[in-house]
Amino acid sequence: MPKPTAAPPPNVPTVPGALPVIGHLGPLAYHPLEFLLAARRHGDIAKIHWGRLPVYLVSSAPLIHHMLLDKDDAYNRSGVLLDRLEDVTGPGLVAAHGKEHRRQKSLLNPAFHTNRLNTLTGLMREECDRVITAWKPGQVIDPEQEMFTIATLAASRYIFGAPVGKDFAHAFRPLLSHMFTEVALRARMPLKLENIPAITRRFANSRHRTDDLIGSEVRAFLKDPHRTRCVLSYMLQHNPRPDTGELIAQAATVLIGGTETAASTLAWLWHELAHHPAAEQRLHHEIDTVLGDTPIAADHFPQLPYTQLLIHETLRLHHPTWVNFRQTHAITELGTTTLPAGTTLAYSLPALYRDPTLYPKPRHFDPTRWESDQPQPQPPFFPFSAGSYKCIGHNYAQILLRTLITTIGFRWTLRHTPGHAVVKEKARLTVHPSKLRMTVTPRRATPNLTACAGT
Ligand code: HEM
Repeated sequence: MPKPTAAPPPNVPTVPGALPVIGHLGPLAYHPLEFLLAARRHGDIAKIHWGRLPVYLVSSAPLIHHMLLDKDDAYNRSGVLLDRLEDVTGPGLVAAHGKEHRRQKSLLNPAFHTNRLNTLTGLMREECDRVITAWKPGQVIDPEQEMFTIATLAASRYIFGAPVGKDFAHAFRPLLSHMFTEVALRARMPLKLENIPAITRRFANSRHRTDDLIGSEVRAFLKDPHRTRCVLSYMLQHNPRPDTGELIAQAATVLIGGTETAASTLAWLWHELAHHPAAEQRLHHEIDTVLGDTPIAADHFPQLPYTQLLIHETLRLHHPTWVNFRQTHAITELGTTTLPAGTTLAYSLPALYRDPTLYPKPRHFDPTRWESDQPQPQPPFFPFSAGSYKCIGHNYAQILLRTLITTIGFRWTLRHTPGHAVVKEKARLTVHPSKLRMTVTPRRATPNLTACAGT
């Protein structure tokens, strides 16, 4: 990482409340979203103290957009939180910078072409059915856990080219959860937790078990020449002599990127639908009229505009990544501010998406704000970021979300279990609904599963 090579920008206000040594780590640890929202009021760019590290929070939509889309050599992705993902995924795409990032992205890109992804609808639906056909009427579920299991089954099948067992998903979640909690804590602690041997051992243990879990699937893939049309096989077409370590790191990256974010988005969506019966009715009407008894396929997507509005609104109000970082590579102009090389910048999509000047009544869940006759914000909504580090899984995520919402919405209604209707946001590496529990009720008699088995 380059060290700052010039004086910090003089015209940038500092957010008040920083304490010696820990800076703003207190509010960042306990109520990060509220803190970042309040910090926006201090200016389009305002300085916060991430412990001892000065971080420039970029808050205006045009400046964020400009920063993301500026030429590759202006900004790298920077450390603090996301770099620590390397501790979890190993040296995969999400932890890479600059030239190495471009190399890794071109290796993974072929697996994420829309034409290839559209064929995944059947696979995603089957994996969803594996989970939801086991639900019993009146059963209480943790929606995020269930969505995580489905997302893991679907992503692993696409990564490794063969289905994995539910035990894979059940083993993977607690490991990931432990590593995410710890990495998020490490990033917001003034002490170096990684210097405490008991903590380091526990983390290393989770990391090894994750590597073993993913490594054994990668090795099974390498032994089976029939596994084609999957992420690993597209990587091999690009590089026929792969390093197994790289295959494991990229498999972990896609698996981690593709599960936590989708699971929390879907959990929030079921939570909001239960509070907004008119939106739920409109979804059910769309599913019933467009799909009838036919299983969802990519051809249906253009006929599901309301489902798309729901996805937009959920990503606006409950965006899963609460903060992302960049670092200037050289002296860079951002708006009227000159930033020295080595300056760390942050942007928060959920804070931006709760700005009342961009989104009237921002805390209100209202999918109709996205209808085409409504005024749309400029620059347009970019929940998957933009530029070189834009989410590689954005098309995959759209297909997964549409497939799961319609497949589950066709069969089940989810209602809050008494005492669980008010849900707090918990920000680890992603933002989760804390302690959400819902009861599932069938919308119709047991479906004809044979009709759902084909693509
Ligand atoms: C609701 C779903 C999702 C949301 C909202 C989301 C959001 C994002 C955002 C905002 C970034 C950019 C972070 C930055 O600016 O540094 C990102 C990066 C990334 N996402 Fe997603 N994501 C989602 C789903 C997925 C899925 C399904 C996958 C994989 C199948 C995935 C894999 C990745 C990877 C690998 C990166 C790093 C890209 C790079 O470094 O070039 N994400 N995601």
